[in-house]
Amino acid sequence: MPIFWRPQMAIGHDEIDADHRYLILLINTVELVLRFPENRPHIEMALEELRRYAAGHFEREERIQIAWGYIQFDEHRQAHRQLLRELDVLVNSIEVLLDDPAVGPEGLRDRSQELTNFLRHWLVDHVMKSDMQLVPLFKKSKVF
Ligand SMILES: [Fe+2]
Repeated sequence: MPIFWRPQMAIGHDEIDADHRYLILLINTVELVLRFPENRPHIEMALEELRRYAAGHFEREERIQIAWGYIQFDEHRQAHRQLLRELDVLVNSIEVLLDDPAVGPEGLRDRSQELTNFLRHWLVDHVMKSDMQLVPLFKKSKVF
């Protein structure tokens, strides 16, 4: 099942919230292409776009945190790096599964739900636990 952005996910910063909405769309795209794994270029393109956009989003969010004087910036940046490492592991494991003749596209389709669930938690847990801590920040005025 696809996921949808909900108002409870709002951080209160337009740029960050727009990025989160787009990341959700990209995860839904990954879910879709994993259901048709015989089309490997689509899987590669969807994962590449998710990786590229996630990296850009984390950088944007970090710049915003600096501009607003977020005190737990270092810890948050570490969390972003960990998320990118986890995404790399996932992308790599999908490639390994596709290359494995014992798994291949058919086996990957069977595991598509599990892989997509991982991605949903990967994003939503970070937004709801870590990014949510930014909410009070955006209710104050900007530092510089
Ligand atoms: Fe974040």
